[in-house]
Amino acid sequence: MNTAIILGSARNQGNTHRLAQRVAHDIQATLFNLADYDITPYDYAHHNRGDDFLPLMKQVLRFDRIVLASPVYWYSPSSSMKVFLDRLSDLMTIEKDMGRQMRKKSAALLATGCDLTAPPCFEDIFQRTYSYLGIAYQGFLYCPCDDDIDMHSHAAAIDDFVAKMATVEVAA
Ligand SMILES: Cc1cc2nc3c(=O)[nH]c(=O)nc-3n(C[C@H](O)[C@H](O)[C@H](O)COP(=O)(O)O)c2cc1C
Repeated sequence: MNTAIILGSARNQGNTHRLAQRVAHDIQATLFNLADYDITPYDYAHHNRGDDFLPLMKQVLRFDRIVLASPVYWYSPSSSMKVFLDRLSDLMTIEKDMGRQMRKKSAALLATGCDLTAPPCFEDIFQRTYSYLGIAYQGFLYCPCDDDIDMHSHAAAIDDFVAKMATVEVAA
């Protein structure tokens, strides 16, 4: 199963970026950083259909699994991730064929935050979104960290997540 990781963080080479890079390495995924794309907020009139969202989604839809990666900011996804989630509505309106392709995908979630555990409302947002889109949810890796993530202290959790991704791959 080939995997796309989509990162939305306010900090390049920050905690979530580094976690996403590590997981991408371990499961041989392709990492897309929303900071590299010009994706504007949802527009009911779709005047922004020419921005980078649809070209990004065309690339992402080539993958079987989509892993979204975001820091926890105020119990919520980062603003770039929220804009990305909102824009998925375009796949229900102006690009329905792409929306149908989403239904065949599976997905997972990566996050970092300073609290010991992620607030349930954070994962809930993604779980409900995946469910609404008909995407099979395969799991969540949350790494609590200070300003500078210590990857060694998360090695076991990362290995567990990587093993889980390999297991669901075999089961699929
Ligand atoms: C604006 C902002 C809001 C934050 N809110 C939370 C929060 O609600 N819960 C939490 O555990 N950490 C919170 N944090 C801490 C970050 O989630 C944590 O430092 C994370 O690892 C940062 O990842 P990044 O380097 O990708 O930005 C917040 C940080 C910022 C900058």
